Amino acid sequence: MMCGIIGCISGENCYEKLLSSLARLEYRGYDSAGVCLLSEEGVLRVRKKKGYVSNLAGKRLAGGAGIGHTRWATHGKPSDENAHPHLCGKFALVHNGIIENYAALKEELLAAGEVFLSETDSEVVVRLLSHAYRGDFLGAVREVCARLSGSYALAVLCSDFPGEIVAARKGSPLVAGAAKGALYVCSDVPALCGEAEFLCPVEDGEFVVLSDAVRIYDAQGRQVERAFSRVKSEQRAASVAEGTFMQSEIAQIPRALRDTLAGLEDTDFAPCARALRGAKRVWCAACGTAYHAALSFADLLAEEGFCDVFCSTSSEFRYKTPLIGEKDVFVAVSQSGETADTLEAARLAKSRGAYLIGITNVADSSLSRLVHFNIAMRAGPEIAVAATKSYNAQLVCLFYLAAQMLFFKRGAVPGWAGEMVSLPEKAEECFRTFGQMSALAAKLRAAKGMFFLGRNADLPTALEGALKVREIACLFAEGYPAGELKHGSLALVEEGFPVLALSTREALFSKTENALAEVRARGAYAVLLSQSEEVLSRSCADCKVLLPQVCAPLMPVLSVLPLQYFACRMSLLRGMDPDKPRNLAKSVTVE
Ligand code: G6P
Repeated sequence: MMCGIIGCISGENCYEKLLSSLARLEYRGYDSAGVCLLSEEGVLRVRKKKGYVSNLAGKRLAGGAGIGHTRWATHGKPSDENAHPHLCGKFALVHNGIIENYAALKEELLAAGEVFLSETDSEVVVRLLSHAYRGDFLGAVREVCARLSGSYALAVLCSDFPGEIVAARKGSPLVAGAAKGALYVCSDVPALCGEAEFLCPVEDGEFVVLSDAVRIYDAQGRQVERAFSRVKSEQRAASVAEGTFMQSEIAQIPRALRDTLAGLEDTDFAPCARALRGAKRVWCAACGTAYHAALSFADLLAEEGFCDVFCSTSSEFRYKTPLIGEKDVFVAVSQSGETADTLEAARLAKSRGAYLIGITNVADSSLSRLVHFNIAMRAGPEIAVAATKSYNAQLVCLFYLAAQMLFFKRGAVPGWAGEMVSLPEKAEECFRTFGQMSALAAKLRAAKGMFFLGRNADLPTALEGALKVREIACLFAEGYPAGELKHGSLALVEEGFPVLALSTREALFSKTENALAEVRARGAYAVLLSQSEEVLSRSCADCKVLLPQVCAPLMPVLSVLPLQYFACRMSLLRGMDPDKPRNLAKSVTVE
């Protein structure tokens, strides 16, 4: 299951702390939630419901130790029964991940007379625990984990041990935290940042016991020493001044770019100079929005003639990599640093001897610890499920990396790199298009679908614009290479069908205009975005949006901004919550 888990031991207000942590996990996307508190007398009290975390509010549940969960259904529909925690005998459990051998284990338990109350794979684990338990809490969890295949982060309560939580991690994220009077385990660094003052990562295969202190054990049961680090200010949970998180996150783009650029200036790339200089091939893998950023990076490197560059979605990477090996550089892009497909792709690349570079927005994430060299974007916490400011920051990191690669190979940075400092200010200039984009969203709110077109460097931006509209406005939208439309998708264009085209590359101005003329001749409502006043004035488009000027290779950082804002307006005008899109989760920690 792809969910959020929390465990908390606290002198007081454990119930309240659990609920506020669950509220911080909400942004990951979920469909049900639950908590279980363990009192000093050893009584387990559970409350779990389909729907929002706010449904759990009510009479306070007593207890100084508790676990909580936000569930995103995979095995079994969203329902009160399938919501976590799951209970059996003396145990209560929350689980994030997928138990791949659950069917065989369930059969064994059914044969032993167990009765299951849910359709989840997770319930198998709590029932196994109840069977394995002989008075040793940690021992039982270790014994059961040894039988599980798949991925999990677990937090468990046992009524014989009031004031104690045992947690385990394999393949799903888990971090431990401490604050004055409270100890935590949680799936998510951002969700813990408002609560904990100190954090400590938990590695795969490790177990955590929370009681009077946080203790970490390896798979053999030996205690491991692990340092805690103070929560950094940029890790602190975000709050929203007004409107939705997505609106604030779009408004924060100039600041995100400024902070990211400042961080890059302070980053010493020397440790990866040798790998970059000698790179035979470059491979990139990412998912969703991060994949579009990776596409832009690949285009830029290819255009500069750096070497062969291959880019694929992380889920496809493993099927397309027969040649990856030593002397290759692998770049993984992930806002959260926890996306399972991207982590798997990175592990595969590492096993083949490639040099790994990660681009992440979350310090201490799994990806940042897996790679040889991590580049931190400093976009600040991103709460809205669909990515906005992290995309612009990813592009800046990737373009900066490209400039370093070119420098290491050729001894000179490309001319466009010097213009990166102007990006935050130019991003602010993009806000001037928002009035027009808002009016456009109002005009198109009832559309049945739309196309986004771009050629060359504008194509990833078109793909990203379409993805945003699909994600948060729940509207069919596709991004296409402008030249490809007439080879099939033009069949969908009819009277009033919106087509938004980007044209920021001088050499391709006329070709993109041709594509617009083709759709307009079929009755489409054409929108053109360009930084060239001349191109706009000559265009047949019905709506023309002027972008700020910046050198061509950096254009994708800016040209996406009006599209991000447009999608957000479309979502709001269509009565949706852009922060919590239907069926989607921010951090997809299952493959
Ligand atoms: C999910 C989110 C997307 C995001 C993608 C990759 O699908 O809904 O907004 O782009 O994951 O996430 P990552 O954290 O790896 O960048």
